[in-house]
Amino acid sequence: MYTSEELMQRVENTLTALANEKKTRPELYAPIQYILSLGGKRLRPTLLLMAYNLYRDDVDRAMMPAVALEMYHNFTLMHDDVMDRADFRRGKPCVHKRWDERVAILSGDAMFLFSYKRLAMCEPSKLADMLALFNQTAFEVFEGQHDDLAFETRNDVSEAEYVEMIRLKTSVLLACALKMGAMLADASLDDMQHLYDFGQNIGLAFQLQDDYLDVYGDFRTFGKRIGGDILCNKKTFMLINALQKSSDAQRRELQSWLDATDYVPEEKIAAVTRLYTAVGVDKMALKRIDEYYAAALECLRRVSVAEERKQLLWQFAKSLLGRKS
Ligand code: IPE
Ligand code: IPE
Ligand code: MG
Ligand code: MG
Ligand code: MG
Repeated sequence: MYTSEELMQRVENTLTALANEKKTRPELYAPIQYILSLGGKRLRPTLLLMAYNLYRDDVDRAMMPAVALEMYHNFTLMHDDVMDRADFRRGKPCVHKRWDERVAILSGDAMFLFSYKRLAMCEPSKLADMLALFNQTAFEVFEGQHDDLAFETRNDVSEAEYVEMIRLKTSVLLACALKMGAMLADASLDDMQHLYDFGQNIGLAFQLQDDYLDVYGDFRTFGKRIGGDILCNKKTFMLINALQKSSDAQRRELQSWLDATDYVPEEKIAAVTRLYTAVGVDKMALKRIDEYYAAALECLRRVSVAEERKQLLWQFAKSLLGRKS
């Protein structure tokens, strides 16, 4: 079996090899190279290969679908940064800042297609099932992104709606990665489902952690502007709970920041962060993250593979719990 570091390195090597393919029209393709060269955790391809590796050792057979998911993920980031008015990604200017929004739209579109190109290189006998899963997942991510944006202008978003939104925009892609790995390795339908459910729970914890780091993280490791979600009025677990659990005075202050149109960004970020900490929603988020991890472990337990073979996957998932990036 391979460690997550070894699999990540193989993904990295493959991405580098693919980057060296000669292309015309640098305006179109350079942003793709740019975003891929900025690193990132390579979480989705690594999860796909780790799931495959639970059953089989010839991991290179699953490499093209793994790369396809990383391409798809990076395409969503390129467009997400336009939609979220973000300036930084992985510690560097976003594509729409380094170039402009028109470039981010078109290069993102090309990247979306690159993901299909790589997916189509999977084992021919698996292509129909892989494509069906990928299409379903890609639509769900768009639906989650739609809800994420729609929630910005609503103040009555429930926690259940938030959880469903992050399940769609983030969890299903992690779940898809794990299920694809199992599918390519001829795992049973039950195992595919358990790994999918494992991925969904890891994904919920992962997005909650992302939302937490957006407030309490450090730009030097997180690579994104701290407070970006606060400036967009993103309806995160923390904001929803702060609105519900605060005193009348705290709620009035929070609401005035949500309604404000003319303000100094740093002041809004500092004030809302102070309210979050006062209400204690930071601790609530960390507790909820732990709960999703516990639920994920339960799903992984049900996978009918020897316990020692599952250790690497569980260790990898656990390492995400304390992540700062
Ligand atoms: C960022 O994903 C978008 C979310 C779903 C939170 P990652 O945190 O996996 O980003 P990279 O690929 O490591 O940069
Ligand atoms: C992004 O969620 C999810 C997708 C890109 C599909 P976020 O908007 O929280 O991701 P970051 O924080 O910009 O990476
Ligand atoms: Mg977003
Ligand atoms: Mg974003
Ligand atoms: Mg975020």
